[in-house]
Amino acid sequence: MKFDEILRMRRSTRSFDSRPVKEGDVLSILEAARLAPSACNSQTWRFVTVTRPEIIRKICHGAMRPVIPNRWLEQAPLVFVGCSQLDVIANRIGSGVTGIEYYQIDLGIAMEHMVLKATELGLGTCWIGWFDESTLKKILNIPNKIKVSALLAVGYSKDESSKKRKRKPLEKIVFSEKWGQPIREK
Ligand SMILES: Cc1cc2nc3c(=O)[nH]c(=O)nc-3n(C[C@H](O)[C@H](O)[C@H](O)COP(=O)(O)O)c2cc1C
Repeated sequence: MKFDEILRMRRSTRSFDSRPVKEGDVLSILEAARLAPSACNSQTWRFVTVTRPEIIRKICHGAMRPVIPNRWLEQAPLVFVGCSQLDVIANRIGSGVTGIEYYQIDLGIAMEHMVLKATELGLGTCWIGWFDESTLKKILNIPNKIKVSALLAVGYSKDESSKKRKRKPLEKIVFSEKWGQPIREK
């Protein structure tokens, strides 16, 4: 599949069928994360893979937040829990100077690599950011010094017809040379 096709095909999947994700595919997705760039090559990302339905159920019913409780997560056959090791010195010094939380950027890049690899493998994915970190950490026994920033549900999409979400046109999100200067004449 061409890269452009992968980008255009990807959309968030919130309905999964019961097929498990093959072990080889889980490893290919994790390998895509491993190859990602990171600030100072610090590779602060860590992942927990969760496939046991009883644990996924626990996460779904115990660690989601109200208003958007993400109940669909219960059907997902695989959940990657995206974590970061916070005590990496190069990373802490860099962030202290610039005020940029590099570990968050690094994890985001690595997890989007995972999303795109999963798409290439014919799998659906959905990021989850609306969860309660402390409850999740208790369920998965994740130590305090680890930050959990996102979950990624993965599986075979049940509903292929899920709608493509609209995007803002480039003119709305890009400036040319200086802030405020439009990229194209209208
Ligand atoms: C960091 C992040 C957190 C997200 N959290 C959730 C979430 O908690 N629940 C959910 O259903 N979708 C979540 N999403 C998915 C977005 O709603 C979705 O990407 C967006 O609406 C665009 O739709 P698309 O992915 O189908 O193109 C999240 C996406 C990102 C990148």
